[in-house]
Amino acid sequence: MKRLLPLVLLAACAQKPADDAVATAFAPVRIVLETNCVHCHGDNRLSTMPPINDTQAITKLIGQHWIVPGKPEASRFFQVVTFSDETPGAMPPSGHAISKKEVQILREWIKAGAKVPAHNVKLSPQGPLPRSI
Ligand code: HEC
Repeated sequence: MKRLLPLVLLAACAQKPADDAVATAFAPVRIVLETNCVHCHGDNRLSTMPPINDTQAITKLIGQHWIVPGKPEASRFFQVVTFSDETPGAMPPSGHAISKKEVQILREWIKAGAKVPAHNVKLSPQGPLPRSI
């Protein structure tokens, strides 16, 4: 057993950088969602889209038409943020389109496989509700 320990540690160390990289890549995505989406797409569900207020919940959207890894343009979750403000169904709703930079962050994340950290990360609304409804 003693001889196994270094191997176990080695395996643990090999795992960690990968998850750290995923967490680092997910960090900006988390900010976009926390400042623009989670207010309405949390426990207080207003839409047909399942909640996105933690990474385990987000995982349930992956692989369905909501988030198609590698294919932002085929992902409903991404399509709605690219609609112009006047388009019904644009997200966030009317007059609160996210910035080009934020759109790019979501695009890159889905393109890179829509990976989320192995441990569950809770997403809480930050700032005011993007629209008074
Ligand atoms: C002010 C509240 C609010 C905010 C903020 C908001 N949504 Fe929504 N969202 C809704 C409501 C209400 C619906 C259901 C009505 C509908 O489908 O048009 C919805 C529906 C959706 C749908 C399903 C629509 C479809 O056509 O399939 C997606 C995907 C979505 N939102 C993504 C987002 C994303 C991503 C953000 C952040 C960039 C966001 N929403 C921000 C209220 C909001």
